[in-house]
Amino acid sequence: MKKIGILTSGGDCQGLNAAIRGVAKGLYEEIDDVEIYGIQNGYAGLIHGDYKKMNQSDFSGILTIGGTILGTSRQPFKMMRVIEDENSIDKVAAMKDNYKKMGLDCLVILGGNGTHKTANLLSEEGLNVVTMPKTIDNDVWGTEMTFGFQSAVDIATEVIDCIHTTATSHGRIFIVEVMGHKVGWLNLYAGIAGGADIILLPEIPYDINEIAKVIEKREQAGKRFSILAVAEGAISKEEAKMKKKELKALRASMPYPSISYKIAKELEEVTGHEIRVTVPGHFQRGGSPCAYDRFLCTRFGAAAARLIKNEQYGFMVALQNEKIVPVPLGEVAGKLKKVPVDSDIIEAAKEIGISFGD
Ligand code: F6P
Repeated sequence: MKKIGILTSGGDCQGLNAAIRGVAKGLYEEIDDVEIYGIQNGYAGLIHGDYKKMNQSDFSGILTIGGTILGTSRQPFKMMRVIEDENSIDKVAAMKDNYKKMGLDCLVILGGNGTHKTANLLSEEGLNVVTMPKTIDNDVWGTEMTFGFQSAVDIATEVIDCIHTTATSHGRIFIVEVMGHKVGWLNLYAGIAGGADIILLPEIPYDINEIAKVIEKREQAGKRFSILAVAEGAISKEEAKMKKKELKALRASMPYPSISYKIAKELEEVTGHEIRVTVPGHFQRGGSPCAYDRFLCTRFGAAAARLIKNEQYGFMVALQNEKIVPVPLGEVAGKLKKVPVDSDIIEAAKEIGISFGD
């Protein structure tokens, strides 16, 4: 008999249920006697011993459903070992304790960057861990693609498409703010797919005057509208020179709900045009996974089950060169996969006249 725990951690995304289903089906199929335990609400459930035994039927009919049937929570890595007062607990010790109490043979963890730091820590502490990379940000190191990303790209692209029709009708300048605080993959893909004229990424600091010049050039060429796809984490050239703490304080004191409104205000001043801002926000993480994500999650799930069957622990399943491969957790944890500024995607975008505001 093998006992396997599954948890989903961090911000949700499309495909979590498809991946849960994939690994569960693989386990039931590949291992003769297996029990699966659903740990509730991410690492919080493992810390507090909140879990339930799942039935095979719990994994049916969930392929197309958004969110996660297990619930999730954000569990910052830096909080893990902090013992501040008598009410605080050693979270790592609590997780190890509950893993043992449950009699688990392996813990399957679905998550992004923060989640992988903790997964690696648990693996180093001796727990058998297998992970799957999820996030709409596509910033997990070691895999070319995370699940959730393509679904979010589809949604953000549709937002830009819709904004295009109203922008062209009115001859207006629009900003669409796309999720991604630290990396710009989602905005890069959606911006290109949606035909944005200017794409601002956290990886390429912008200059407001350069953006104004692009808009002016478009006007001179008879284009009455412009669309800017702005990543949540877009940063100006001046801000890029600041220390992290300084920038954080500046952003916290900003009298705008998000960076796009600041850029809109500055652009209004420089260009003299009214700028409209659209922020789809968490809409980008909601709803059904697209076909590609269902496909990827199913492959990831089957690969995770195979690793467990073969008792190969301490790995994340990853997509590399069209193949699903195991990557050691130690190689994944603590790294961020940013958009390389010399990426051929950026080069191609520039070649067709898209500006990055630099
Ligand atoms: O990590 C996924 C993500 O959606 C980011 O793109 C975004 O910056 C962040 O999560 C939002 O976090 P929260 O859901 O906690 O508001």
